[in-house]
Amino acid sequence: MTPGQRTALDPFGADIPAETARLRALGPIVPVELPGGIPAWAPTDYDTLRRLILDPEVSRDPRRHWSLWPEIPDHPTWGWILGWVGVVNMFSTYGADHTRLRRLVAPSFTHRRTAAMAPRVAAITGELLDALARKGAEGAPVDLREDLARPLPIRMICELFGVPDELLADTARLADGVIDTSDPSPEHAEMVQSLIFRTLPALIAHKRDRPGDDMTTELIRVRDEDGDRLSDEELMYTLLLVIGAGFESTVNLIGNAIVALLSDPRQLAAVRSGSVGWDAVIDETLRLHPSFATLPLRYAVSDLTVGDTTIPAGDAIITTYAASGLDPAHYGDDAADFDAARGADDHLAFGIGVHRCIGAPLARLEAATVLPAFFTRFPHSTLTVPPSELHQVPSFIAEGWREIPVRLGG
Ligand code: HEM
Repeated sequence: MTPGQRTALDPFGADIPAETARLRALGPIVPVELPGGIPAWAPTDYDTLRRLILDPEVSRDPRRHWSLWPEIPDHPTWGWILGWVGVVNMFSTYGADHTRLRRLVAPSFTHRRTAAMAPRVAAITGELLDALARKGAEGAPVDLREDLARPLPIRMICELFGVPDELLADTARLADGVIDTSDPSPEHAEMVQSLIFRTLPALIAHKRDRPGDDMTTELIRVRDEDGDRLSDEELMYTLLLVIGAGFESTVNLIGNAIVALLSDPRQLAAVRSGSVGWDAVIDETLRLHPSFATLPLRYAVSDLTVGDTTIPAGDAIITTYAASGLDPAHYGDDAADFDAARGADDHLAFGIGVHRCIGAPLARLEAATVLPAFFTRFPHSTLTVPPSELHQVPSFIAEGWREIPVRLGG
């Protein structure tokens, strides 16, 4: 891979579909530069991405399998990636380490355990809609990201992990800082690292003092009773992963679905009439606007062949969910259109294989609760600006709207 051949990804993620189409025209897997100039390979179609995710010769452990790993900490503009791959948890481990770390958390998020959370999700949704009605009374505009899409998953994950109110602001800053890829400066990377080392140890200390019926207390118990199953470092980074996922991902699913429906009255009418279900709306939102457009990083364990291209062992690969969902070879020439009736439930937005998302049932439950509740209670809602004037969060990783200004109507 020579630098001249690489395409730089937009660190702001301003127009992910257009960028995806440009890359796809270059081939099934293309050399790109991530913010700050980190080299990686980008799969550009559904089949290539699926194959690479499922290939056991593709790892998620940078310490064992990324040739550039030793250079990252000292490089002036590469440190931001440490918030994603410098963490030691199930997200960035391979083989037996991954299995061990995943088994500690996954049983708490099964479909059965998640179904038991439904009454709490419904209760929080009801409170948020009441508050929204008060705020939006007499035509005052509301921001559905800050006033609805964000607080529901955040309140749920904080309850599940016993995050106290005094740590909420720092946890939100941390989650936003990790997602924001528009600033590859060392200052930004240091800000994120210092928030990690301030917020997570504070949460662990808080729960050691005041254990409760929550998952942080449970993970601390595992750590204290059996250090072979979970080290101090793994405890901290596991909390970062799962709490961070709760802060950012479902927020964008809910926001993206609301904007898609408010932008297209025919789609909203179809779901209201019952001709398509809310599950189909959720899947179509995830296909077309996956909450994670792209995730860093995977690594070639051995040389890999994709078409005419060889990915050398030790190179990094990004996981391009947006590109897979927009692939016309898989979803047809109208792949770029939102059409809930297409029934595209084979999207890869929750991943596939051993690293597939453990929070998918919870994310689906939250979206399937809040979306019908919102559109039933406020059937005359309208965006206060045309959809073309909405702005994406500044990230090539996350796909979501920074603000969703809406009038709730009469
Ligand atoms: C719409 C919401 C969500 C989306 C789109 C999403 C998507 C994803 C994706 C794409 C992956 C990576 C799969 C791979 O590497 O192949 C993942 C992994 C993960 N997600 Fe989610 N996620 C969401 C919500 C959540 C929530 C609410 C939680 C927490 C409860 C969560 C926890 C995790 C964890 C722990 C992993 C790592 C699994 C592993 O590496 O073994 N996610 N998610």
